Amino acid sequence: MVNKNSEKMNNDNIEIVNKIMELKRERNAVIVAHNYQRDEVQEIADMVGDSFALSKFCASTNADTVVFAGVYFMAESAKILSPEKTVLLPERNAGCPMADMITASELRNFKKNYPNAAVVCYINSSAEVKAECDICCTSSNAVKVIKSLKEEEIIFVPDKNLGNYISKMVPEKRLILWEGFCPTHHRITVDDVIKAKEHHPDALILVHPECKPEVVDLADFVGSTKQIIDYATKSDNKKFIIGTEMGVLYSLKKNNPDKTFYMLSNAFICPNMKKTTLESIYKSLKDMQYKIEIDDEIMQKASNALKRMLEVS
Ligand code: 13P
Ligand code: SF4
Repeated sequence: MVNKNSEKMNNDNIEIVNKIMELKRERNAVIVAHNYQRDEVQEIADMVGDSFALSKFCASTNADTVVFAGVYFMAESAKILSPEKTVLLPERNAGCPMADMITASELRNFKKNYPNAAVVCYINSSAEVKAECDICCTSSNAVKVIKSLKEEEIIFVPDKNLGNYISKMVPEKRLILWEGFCPTHHRITVDDVIKAKEHHPDALILVHPECKPEVVDLADFVGSTKQIIDYATKSDNKKFIIGTEMGVLYSLKKNNPDKTFYMLSNAFICPNMKKTTLESIYKSLKDMQYKIEIDDEIMQKASNALKRMLEVS
């Protein structure tokens, strides 16, 4: 049964959540949700986290079915790490525009220009792109992954903003960047930061490395969604300006009822992350849709890049 006292649960939600819980038991399923999901979706998830935490959880769970409340590349990564499980993405069209900014054939051509470079992809990429890479990374372990490589020259795709951040943190490596970016984070400007700081001078600024370099430069802390939540939770400060998608407010407020959070911008919404609803999760479990299927050869190669990341981090 669902907690009826929960603020997020109105009567309609309680009914649908009870049906989801019943189907979950029947299917021996778990629901995992990214930190950007709607509040009511995060509320019913067995695990909420950043891309790295969710990948690790999916690789270790004993469930037969994983319902992935997130975007396509995340569900695909879960399938690659657990090929024996059924992985469902409730919303077929929940994609990531940044992941779509590079194709495997574009990467193959790009690699020809740098035959000695190691090739690293951000987890926000397709299975086909991962299959072309030596190792994968997430925003929480990118610096560690890059430092672990023996090569000095490294192709990094697709996020130029995360690539710029890594370059600053690991100056001994030469990163060759692809021109990709996250439309949700890339639209945030220095002006947004200045205004937020003017309104809340005693707040700390916490941003995701997918923001532009000039925005990242003004931050007090840079990290993945989970790292931002953990930082604010452990900090003695009481006020924070949040520079990532607004879904993180769910855990931030839940973990820190005595602290205040301000969004760096009202434009911090990822439309793809918001596609998944309780209704689509219910349908997903009822009709076992939409199953992630990946070609065997791509799966094997992409799995090498993801598993190497898990070994390093
Ligand atoms: P995290 O891995 O930090 O949760 O980020 C995923 C993402 O898509 C950020 O836009
Ligand atoms: Fe992709 Fe950006 Fe949405 Fe993250 S916030 S899933 S990078 S579009």
